[in-house]
Amino acid sequence: MAELAMRGGAPVRPQGYPRWPVHDERDVEAVTRVVRGGRWGGFPEPGPMAAEFGARFAAYQGSGHGVVMANGTVTMEVALKALGIGWGDEVILPALTFAATPYAAMAAGALPVFCDVTPDTLTLDPDQVETAVTSRTRAIMPVHLGHQMADMDRVMEVARRHSLAVVEDCAHAHGQRWRDRGAGSFGELGSFSHQSLKLLTAGEGGSLLTDDEQLARRAHSLIDCGRPKDPDEKHYTFGANYRLGELHAALLLVALERFPDQQAERAAAGRRFQELAAQVPGVRLLPPDPRISRWSFYCYVLLIEPEAFAGATNRLVCEALEAEGVGCGWTRRRCRSPWPSGPPCGRPCTWTRTSSGPALAGSRTRSRRSPRCSATRRSWPGGVRGTPRGCPGRTGPSPGRTSAGRGGSSPAARPAGERRPATRGPGGWRAAP
Ligand SMILES: Cc1ncc(COP(=O)(O)O)c(C=O)c1O
Repeated sequence: MAELAMRGGAPVRPQGYPRWPVHDERDVEAVTRVVRGGRWGGFPEPGPMAAEFGARFAAYQGSGHGVVMANGTVTMEVALKALGIGWGDEVILPALTFAATPYAAMAAGALPVFCDVTPDTLTLDPDQVETAVTSRTRAIMPVHLGHQMADMDRVMEVARRHSLAVVEDCAHAHGQRWRDRGAGSFGELGSFSHQSLKLLTAGEGGSLLTDDEQLARRAHSLIDCGRPKDPDEKHYTFGANYRLGELHAALLLVALERFPDQQAERAAAGRRFQELAAQVPGVRLLPPDPRISRWSFYCYVLLIEPEAFAGATNRLVCEALEAEGVGCGWTRRRCRSPWPSGPPCGRPCTWTRTSSGPALAGSRTRSRRSPRCSATRRSWPGGVRGTPRGCPGRTGPSPGRTSAGRGGSSPAARPAGERRPATRGPGGWRAAP
C-alpha cells in the first residue's frame, strides 16, 4: 500500500479544488453598477437589489416572501421575534447544530431546549421533541444538517398536534426539496445563511422566507430599527439595524443565476462520492433520506468506525484526508445518548465537503464542533437544558396540550398561570400575553 501523504507519500488528490466563491465578470459588473449608482446601503429598507433577491430566492424555494438581512443568525432571531416568542418561552432544537441556532433562541429571550438527533440522519428526532414539549414550548427549530433534511413530515405533525410554530434552519439547505417542496417553506418561517462557505453566498447575508405577509412585514420592521411596514404605517416594532447592503444583494442576485447548475453538478458529485465511499471499510454513510426530492447538499456527513482505522481519532482521519487533498472537517465530541440502538452514540462524525465543480470533494472547511448530546437532563451554561428521551418527568403528553390543530390549544386544559402557545388567528400570529 502506498505511503500516506501525512507520512511523506504523494497525495492522491494533488489538483486542489475550484476557487470558492465562484465568480466572474458578472459579479464585478454587478458590484460596479451599485458603486456607480451610489445606493450602497440597505436603507431605505428593502433596497431594490435586496427586494429583488428576496423575491427571487423565495420563489426558488417555493415561498411567498423573502426578507434579506445581515446573516443567517439574525434571520432566526428575527423569525422568533416576529412570532412574538420571547421571555419565558421554550424553543426546541437539535443538540447537533451550529451555535447560531440556540443563540438565536436566546437572543430572542427564549430558552433553547436541546433534543438529540436520529442515528440515520443526525437531524432532530421527532420522538424526542414529543417528550420535550411543555406548556411553555412555543416553537420547534429543525436544522437541515449537512446533506440531510430533518423529517419534515413528523416535525410538522408534532407541531400541529401541539400548536407550535416551526422555524426551519436551512443554512445548509439552499435549493433542497422534501417531497418536492422547498426547504424553508414548511414551517411558518425558513432561515438561510449566505455566509462565505454556504452554497449561495455573497460573503455575508441571510434570507428569511415565509408565506405569511404579516410575518414578513414584521420581519422587515424588526431589521429596520422598528420602522412600520404596514400600509398605514402604524405598526412599530422593537427593532435594530440588521439590514443587508446593496453590494451584497447584487452579488446574491448573480449567485442565484449560477445556482441551479451548481446544484445539479453538486448532486451528481455527491452521488459519485457516495458510491466510492461505500467501498471503503470502516466508513458508515448516512444516505440522504429518500424523501429529499432535490438534493443540494452542503457537506456530506459520515461516520467512521475507529476500529477500522486502527483506533485513530476522528481528527487524525480528517488530517490524513486533508493531507491527501480531500477537504474534511470533524466533530470533536462523541454523542452520548441513552439510546439502546447505539449509533450515533459513541461514534465520531466526519464531515466531507463536495464541491460544485467536477471534483469529487470540495473546498476545505474548518473543524466543526457540535455540543455533546445529553445523557441525562442536565444544566448547561446559561441555563440551557438538554431533554433526552425517557427523561424522568418528561414522559407522556405535556399538560395543557390538546390534539387540536394549530391555534387549537384549549385554555381549559391548561393549568392556571401557564402561558399560551403561539396562535394564529385572522389577525396573524399573536404573542402570548
Ligand atoms: C446550521 C447553521 N445555522 C446557522 C448558521 C449561521 O449563519 P451565519 O454565519 O450566516 O450567521 C450556520 C453557519 O454556519 C449554520 O451552520
